[in-house]
Formats: sequence, structure tokens, C-alpha cells
Amino acid sequence: MRTIERIAPLRSALMEPRRRGLSIGLVPTMGSLHEGHLQLVDEARRRSGFVVLSVFVNPLQFGPHEDFARYPRDLARDVSLAERRGVDLLFAPPAEELFSPDRVVVTTPLALADRWEGAARPGHFTGVLTVVAKLFNIVQPTVAVFGQKDIQQAVLIKAMTRDLDFPVQIAIAPTAREGDGLALSSRNAYLSPGDRRHALVLSRALRAIGEAYDRGEYDASKLEQLGWEILASEADVQVEYLAIMDAQRLEPVAIAEQGSIVAVAARVGGARLIDNMILGQP
Ligand code: PAJ
Repeated sequence: MRTIERIAPLRSALMEPRRRGLSIGLVPTMGSLHEGHLQLVDEARRRSGFVVLSVFVNPLQFGPHEDFARYPRDLARDVSLAERRGVDLLFAPPAEELFSPDRVVVTTPLALADRWEGAARPGHFTGVLTVVAKLFNIVQPTVAVFGQKDIQQAVLIKAMTRDLDFPVQIAIAPTAREGDGLALSSRNAYLSPGDRRHALVLSRALRAIGEAYDRGEYDASKLEQLGWEILASEADVQVEYLAIMDAQRLEPVAIAEQGSIVAVAARVGGARLIDNMILGQP
């Protein structure tokens, strides 16, 4: 596996697999790799002949009071995990390689970005879409793989790809979890052992809603009520939102149906955690 920091040598390095007729799969990440990221690599491997993993802690998607400075970074560890998982090329640009101080253009979504994560994190999705658009242009992948864990991000990236005609297939891989249900996240590193126990209430609430749906409860407000009651059992968890929404526009629904999304965000100790599930899925 090669590790490349600059755009020009990356482009040259991609000419050879292209000449061999290999399709390119891209997995964008901010590093601090965990099994969830590595399962995206597996999915990219299944869908393409040459897998590029990017590691870039994107300053543009962090708010001024967010965790950019303390976001976990360990490139040496990421390189070794990526290599063992079969990544062909790791792209780890320094910030100045992607963002010039003279930059005047960003990619801002018109809709969908003003609620849920977008409401809690103004400007976040402009930062995400801008860097993902740049990575698409730099790597020119056939397929790019994202996680269901960040469902609103995945929906917005699909919308951007459609609206700006990127010739890239977008694949969404399921959320990887610990044995006890906690969704894997680089931000779990912020949790103390006590916080980690409290954080389990998120996946527990989602699971209870999913089971109630499977038993035939489709009234979204009743399902949400059930989730809120479970979340309220952990005093140390401050819920920001819990809602059932449609899968395209992420608008709240009154009646839950197969494919509706239940999404939750909460602060636990020093971390802000998100999780979601799709109703009616095994
Ligand atoms: P990051 O949080 O590092 O996540 C990189 C990718 O891994 C995203 O597609 C995310 O949804 C996915 N992912 C994270 N946790 C996961 C889990 N438990 N199971 C499955 N997939 C998981 O998301 C970002 O970085 C950035 O916003 C990025 C898209 C790289 C743009 O900067």
C-alpha cells in the first residue's frame, strides 16, 4: 500500500490501475480508523478493483467551538490498519493541499441541511460536501462508500452526486456496532467508562422502537414517546433530538413505514453522539 500526501502524485499513481482497467473505489474518512471504517473498505473492495482510502480531518466541517483541535489523530496506526485490510492507496493530504487561503467556492446544500445535524452544527454540511466534492474530483472514483451511521451526510452526498452530475456510484454500508450495541465512532474515544455505559441507551432506544414497529406500532409519535422514555432513564444523557423521518427528505413522519429512519443525537459526557436505524430491516 502506498501513502501519498499530494494531489499530483496521487493522480499519477491512479493512472496505472486505470490503465489496467481497474475501477476505483473511494472511502473518505477523517482517520482514527475503527472496524466501521474498515467495513467500508471491504464494501469498496467488493465493488471495485482498486481501493483508495482518504484520511483528512477536514477543518471546514467543524464549528468554531467543536472538537477539531482534539479530534483523535494517529496516521501511523491508520496506515497499518488500512494496509492490513487491503487498501491499495492511502491519501493523507495536509490541510494546505486541499484548502488554499484564497478559496472562494464551497458546495452548500439548499435543503436538508438546516435540520437535525445541520441545525445543531451550522455550516457542517457545507464543509462535508465541499471536501467530498473535492475528493471526487481528485480521485475520480467509480464508486464511493459511506456509512449509514451518518445517515444525513449519506443522503446529502447522494443528493449532491445527483445534482452536480458526479459520475460516481454512492454505496451506503450498514452501521458497525460493538457487541453491546454501541455504534462505533472515532468520538467514542472521548467517553469515560461510565459515559460509555450511559451511551448504550441510544442503541437501546432505537432497538426498542424497531421492535415496537415490528410488532405493528406505526404511530410515529407513540414510537418516539417510547424512545424518549428509555432515553430519560439515563440522567447523564442529554438528548438533542429523537425523530422518525422519511428516508429521502428526512422530514418527520406521522406514520412510520418500512424504510423510515429513526435518528437520535445526544450529548454523553464530553461527546456528542449520533445513531440511527432503518425501520423494517432485519
Ligand atoms: P468519519 O467520521 O471518519 O467517517 C468516515 C466514514 O465512515 C463515513 O462514511 C461514516 O459514515 C462511516 N462510519 C463511521 N462510523 C461508522 C460505523 N460505526 N459503521 C459504519 N460506517 C461508519 O464522516 C466523515 O468522516 C466525514 O464527514 C467525511 C465524509 C470523511 C468528510 O470529511
